[in-house]
Amino acid sequence: MLSQRANRNLEISSSNMLFVGMKAASSNAYDRDSNMSGIINMGVAENALMSSEVISQVHLDVRASDLGYGSFRGSSRLRFEVASLMNRRHGLGATRLELSANHVAIGNGAGSVVASVAHILADENDAILVPAPVYGAFRSDLLANAGVTAVFVNAKDSLPNPTGKVVPLSLLKEWIEWAHARNLHCIVDEVYIICIRSTMDVDPLRTHIIWSFSKDFCLNGIRAGALISKNQQVLDAYNELAYFHGIPSIDRFTKTNYERLRDSFELSGSLILFHKFLDGGLYIAPSEAFFCDPAGPDASRFRINVPLGLDRMMKVLDQIID
Ligand SMILES: Cc1ncc(COP(=O)(O)O)c(C=O)c1O
Repeated sequence: MLSQRANRNLEISSSNMLFVGMKAASSNAYDRDSNMSGIINMGVAENALMSSEVISQVHLDVRASDLGYGSFRGSSRLRFEVASLMNRRHGLGATRLELSANHVAIGNGAGSVVASVAHILADENDAILVPAPVYGAFRSDLLANAGVTAVFVNAKDSLPNPTGKVVPLSLLKEWIEWAHARNLHCIVDEVYIICIRSTMDVDPLRTHIIWSFSKDFCLNGIRAGALISKNQQVLDAYNELAYFHGIPSIDRFTKTNYERLRDSFELSGSLILFHKFLDGGLYIAPSEAFFCDPAGPDASRFRINVPLGLDRMMKVLDQIID
């Protein structure tokens, strides 16, 4: 009854441990008050540092002009703000890019933009090389709509994963130069770019950067991301898909609070805990640990959920060993 494509997507999804885990965890989420037996989610990178500010502003800022269709590739105001932010922060434009609103297109999340860029740059059954280990949803992001295969290239010796460290800029440049020397385009997923990157001096016509509000702005659920490129053909092609990936016109979100992120990143008890776990031979999704504010609402999540999570882990392991 279903198309081959739909069957393929269902099959891929059911064998992707990230998706299996996410589905189970979200349909039966642990809650201290109402669902003590629910699943403790220690596998997703969500940032709750700005929750209260976001909640207070999203409701206040709806205007009559937001209720029309608007531009599917994102309002010029939002695209301008994203370009300015990138130019200001960490030098995406400080070196060679010098971004303007025209170099930015908005979509509903980095995952969605990855899918669109695959659709634009590759044909069905083409392959995209992906250094691995890597974010686990790339395979389906590339395949689901565009039918493009991810070919994982084992870069274990050079990648700092899975410690949560950042791919060094020199290594990233080496990969990009390798690709450009072979006339290949590079799709660079930089969802943490505000948190982590310094400068990016790259060929702007064959390097397409994907960024998202999910991590740097603590807005996973809002579903907003950006394609940043200087390649007009790619941007024009994106425009043709934008209708399917647009975000609501209500796009005046709270500004990122870089200092708060940085402070929590540096001082977080969770981060210390993460390293203690690692030293003790236990790896737990590090980005979750990086974005827990020891003083904020998420503190309870780490203080309560982690010990409880570990307790449950030990029980399961005990059963296996018995
Ligand atoms: C590397 C990477 N790309 C994309 C995504 C998905 O981002 P979004 O929520 O903007 O779709 C994530 C989420 O964890 C990620 O880690």
